[in-house]
Amino acid sequence: MSAETVRRDVVVAGLSDLRERERIVVDVDGLELGVYFHAGEVRAWHNVCPHQGGPVCQGKIMPRTVQLVREGRKSGGPGFHPTDRNIVCPWHGFEFDILTGRHPADSRVGLRPIPVRVEGDDVIVTI
Ligand code: FES
Repeated sequence: MSAETVRRDVVVAGLSDLRERERIVVDVDGLELGVYFHAGEVRAWHNVCPHQGGPVCQGKIMPRTVQLVREGRKSGGPGFHPTDRNIVCPWHGFEFDILTGRHPADSRVGLRPIPVRVEGDDVIVTI
């Protein structure tokens, strides 16, 4: 006899509510996840940081830091990307792109995705 994993869909938020809040952190049967709305997209990530297991989805959402370049290829100092956003883990500050889940300096490191979709106003995860 083989053990079979049964997956199921769970409505975790209303899209209109998620749009306003940008992020919610929910517990679905002991699985904590962060659900995000950014740039018209919805993503869900497991709330465990790949660094040391911190509650990454409870971290701040910050614009991605960029190096500004002025005319003549001179440095304009640090600045912020106009649209890209990172999730900043509250334990040690590792950052992850809100849409890809990837660490900006090492694309091998990233958050664990949870399948998510929108039907009408329902935001539904599959766990
Ligand atoms: S546990 Fe997230 S940065 Fe260390």
